[in-house]
Amino acid sequence: MEAVLIKENIYWVGVLDWNLRDFHGYSTSLGGTYNAYLILDEKITLIDNVYAPFAEEMIERIKSVIDPSKIEVIISNHSEPDHSGSIHAVLKYAPNAKIYASGPSGVRSMMGTYHDIEVLPVKTNDIVNIGKRDLKFIQTPLVHWPDNMVTYSAYDKILFSNDMLGQHIASFERYDEDFAIEFLLSELRNYYANIVLPYGVQTQKALAIVKQLDIELIAPSHGIIWKKYIKEAIDLYDKMSKYEKENKAVVLYDSMWGSTEKMALEVAESFSNAGIKTLVRHVRKSPNSDLIVDLMDAKYIAVGSPTLNNGIMPSLASFLCYMKGLNPRKLNFFVFGSYGWSGQGTEIADKELEDMGYTRIIEPLRIQYSPKSEQINLMKENIAMALKEFATK
Ligand code: FEO
Repeated sequence: MEAVLIKENIYWVGVLDWNLRDFHGYSTSLGGTYNAYLILDEKITLIDNVYAPFAEEMIERIKSVIDPSKIEVIISNHSEPDHSGSIHAVLKYAPNAKIYASGPSGVRSMMGTYHDIEVLPVKTNDIVNIGKRDLKFIQTPLVHWPDNMVTYSAYDKILFSNDMLGQHIASFERYDEDFAIEFLLSELRNYYANIVLPYGVQTQKALAIVKQLDIELIAPSHGIIWKKYIKEAIDLYDKMSKYEKENKAVVLYDSMWGSTEKMALEVAESFSNAGIKTLVRHVRKSPNSDLIVDLMDAKYIAVGSPTLNNGIMPSLASFLCYMKGLNPRKLNFFVFGSYGWSGQGTEIADKELEDMGYTRIIEPLRIQYSPKSEQINLMKENIAMALKEFATK
């Protein structure tokens, strides 16, 4: 395992996790990377480290450049274990290295997680000199945890951005210029929707500062390094963090014997007939993390659930829980479904969406047993009317 030179005296010493498929609920079909960066200056500096099971791989890459015992400075931009989990493995070689994290939350989190380590607090605009370089810190709380910060080296014009602008891709290629921009922006969207989405306001604040910096490279702690498409990546982050919406609907449903599915397809046609771009998704056939990407820029969500044992389908319950946490803003909703006898499924889903603070377009629509064509026609008329009224509000 060898380090990769990314700029004079700066090396990528991260790891490739080719088999990563589930990042606590985020389905990662392309694997992932945990990026760490080694700076050779008067004080050898390590920026971030990697998830603990990969510690030896990272150490091997460091050893391909220097003796790890020479590391004097460790920057922890974020205490989540994918970026800090190998801290003890590094300290085994360099027990006297100084560790810096954002204060107070990064220090608290590092010491609470790893115990028996000393961590020095830094805050926005603090500088740690490592020789030719002044490393400047900018706290970016909640992009993704309260402790997140980024590290800027004006000498190299590099921003080490940690989770911000990351993507879950495992690849030997380290730069954006080795990929099609459409692919990268799509992966940036996937990552943002599943990791950063709740924190749009905080992301806007962070971007305002980042835009002032003179930057040639943005080196996140996941995925490729931004070099050629920095502007495109920042522009997309800007748009996503403003919760910009398209005239788009997502019809999400589960179905036991096909009746709710039949309704879902007709509901979707109603949206499409109203001139709204419409996607149809069976929740048991798509990972929650793909569904949230579909939903992120949608104006409308229609949720279809049969009633199963006096409740909603477990697949929908799982998705609604995932969605509640990520909180895509500014959604307008309605709920529909078929039922056999008690029929609480639609009410329960309706209440969940109401409790999330979204705007109801129309009261829940439910049909007992299999829908007849006249019931479907009436349902579609009601939806068309509601959408027309809604559009004028
Ligand atoms: Fe990549 Fe929030 O950790």
